[in-house]
Amino acid sequence: MKENKRPILVFGATGRQGGAVADALLKAGWPVRAIVRDISAAKSIALRQAGAELVQGSFADLDAIRAQMDSAHGVFSVLPANLSEAEEVRIGCAIADLAAESGVAHLVYSSGASSGDTPTGIARFDAKPRIEAHIRNLPVTATIIRPMIFMDMLINPAFGISEGRYTFFLRPDQSMQLIAVEDIGKFAAAIFADRIRFGGRTIKIASDTVTGRELGEIFSEVAGRPIAYSRLADDVLAGNGDLGQLAAILDNGPLADHVDLAEMRKINPEIISFRAWLATQGRQAFDTVIGDDRASRSA
Ligand SMILES: NC(=O)c1ccc[n+]([C@@H]2O[C@H](COP(=O)([O-])OP(=O)(O)OC[C@H]3O[C@@H](n4cnc5c(N)ncnc54)[C@H](OP(=O)(O)O)[C@@H]3O)[C@@H](O)[C@H]2O)c1
Repeated sequence: MKENKRPILVFGATGRQGGAVADALLKAGWPVRAIVRDISAAKSIALRQAGAELVQGSFADLDAIRAQMDSAHGVFSVLPANLSEAEEVRIGCAIADLAAESGVAHLVYSSGASSGDTPTGIARFDAKPRIEAHIRNLPVTATIIRPMIFMDMLINPAFGISEGRYTFFLRPDQSMQLIAVEDIGKFAAAIFADRIRFGGRTIKIASDTVTGRELGEIFSEVAGRPIAYSRLADDVLAGNGDLGQLAAILDNGPLADHVDLAEMRKINPEIISFRAWLATQGRQAFDTVIGDDRASRSA
């Protein structure tokens, strides 16, 4: 099958989203061309061993990117989180412009579920709707995906898991949607497989819905000991601009607007629940956090 297909150019393939997309596309029989900054890095070598074609390059070299797009069927575009809003917009728009000029058949841009009609005031969120708007005006078939909160973002010692509690943004009965990074790859592969169905669409993607209370239950179950759930205190949210804005986005902003998981399953029948993810793909990271706690208590 691969011999008959032109490749899909994947950005960020040594990272979470791009890595999952490269993996899912290779499994689906697509040739994958990955632009990597360091061809000798362990993640690059693993990508090549999995079957991807590696091209050394960076966002700084748009001519090199253009050359790689000329013979590509599609492009998966994702930008790293450490860019300023202006840089993210500049590079995201430039990649989309090159895809349109090169005549690629399908551009898939990974935006964020926080994108909506109103800016959030958080720079790393607000670049994305600006790139989306630019893409919609280009003469290229494009699909914009808006992944919900990554499951691995929840395994963070800052939320207190190692101390037997989990303090987060949700009220106990309030729900939010999560996505496993591996599922982003599977959604992208399904989208590249059906350009007619998905071209021109903007799709929020999610794997599961959980409440605050359920987070405590799931963490307790997997840890094998109680982890009590509570919402961050109102004075903490009021006194910290970034935390307050994140809470507001979950309370009544774009992250409060949920997708229908039955519809998600029609695109990616393998979406994983947070409970199943934590017990498998997320287990190692979770055990590390719990392990840190054991190490610090015995010190
Ligand atoms: N929804 C959520 O909960 C959530 C959570 C986290 C992030 N995000 C979003 O996800 C996006 C980041 O995706 P990710 O988490 O998959 O990123 P990631 O794991 O940090 O990977 C970033 C990728 O970009 C590559 N890269 C960095 N600078 C580059 C450059 N100058 N030229 C070419 N490639 C470069 C990195 O290559 P190297 O291997 O060479 O460094 C790596 O492959 C951001 O937009 C962020 O806002 C969303």
